[in-house]
Amino acid sequence: MKDSLDAILRREQAEYLDKILPRADRLIAEMEQYSAENRVPIADREVALFLEITSRAMCARRILEIGMAIGYSAVHFARAMEDGGLVVTIEPDDEMIERASGFLSRAGVNERVRIERGRALEVMPRLTESFDLIFIDAVKEEYEKYLDLSVPLLREGGVIIADNVLWKGQVAGELRSPKQKASTEALRRFNEKFMRHPQLRSVIVPIGDGLAYGVKTND
Ligand SMILES: C[S@@+](CC[C@H](N)C(=O)[O-])C[C@H]1O[C@@H](n2cnc3c(N)ncnc32)[C@H](O)[C@@H]1O
Repeated sequence: MKDSLDAILRREQAEYLDKILPRADRLIAEMEQYSAENRVPIADREVALFLEITSRAMCARRILEIGMAIGYSAVHFARAMEDGGLVVTIEPDDEMIERASGFLSRAGVNERVRIERGRALEVMPRLTESFDLIFIDAVKEEYEKYLDLSVPLLREGGVIIADNVLWKGQVAGELRSPKQKASTEALRRFNEKFMRHPQLRSVIVPIGDGLAYGVKTND
């Protein structure tokens, strides 16, 4: 269950949508429990499902993830792929990498995931492959820079998704935590840029904590 269920949707809508979600399997439920007990932020369940469905619909074969944590979204991506597909996921924290490696191996998707240890702004300029889908989910203050580095790595028709762009209601409303002032302002700038990006056709979907969703066009 999310921290603040009614931050984006009205409570009754959010509770209803939560109730009709498919049940998580054992591994996914364990990852959710680990995240809750250890205060590791991961995507909301419906966001993970949305990522998996998008990957399946696109038959994505190359996915880049910025911010892996314990591998919750990475497992959803990897499970959506056929053999030969690859998720490249960036994470600087050794403890997260160790924990994620265990979960990925138990999910049986090790061979479909390449972990790039390091900070995204250092790793991304070294990447040479092109991606069908890019998922941004790391340092909010860096989202604009991730976007600049992501668009050239995305194939035409590829999809870019960024999580937490409504930031528990703060982006459109009042700041709840003074500590999140810089991240909230950065996300406002990111959303403007994302929605007006000349190479993207974009929309913000109010699921989870807000998902920015754009397709790379050749217009
Ligand atoms: C919100 S979590 C990612 C959750 C994951 N995508 C999921 O839904 O399962 C953000 C992660 O970004 C990582 N991170 C922090 N700084 C980073 C950086 N500069 N580059 C890439 N990842 C970073 C954090 O260690 C953390 O594990």
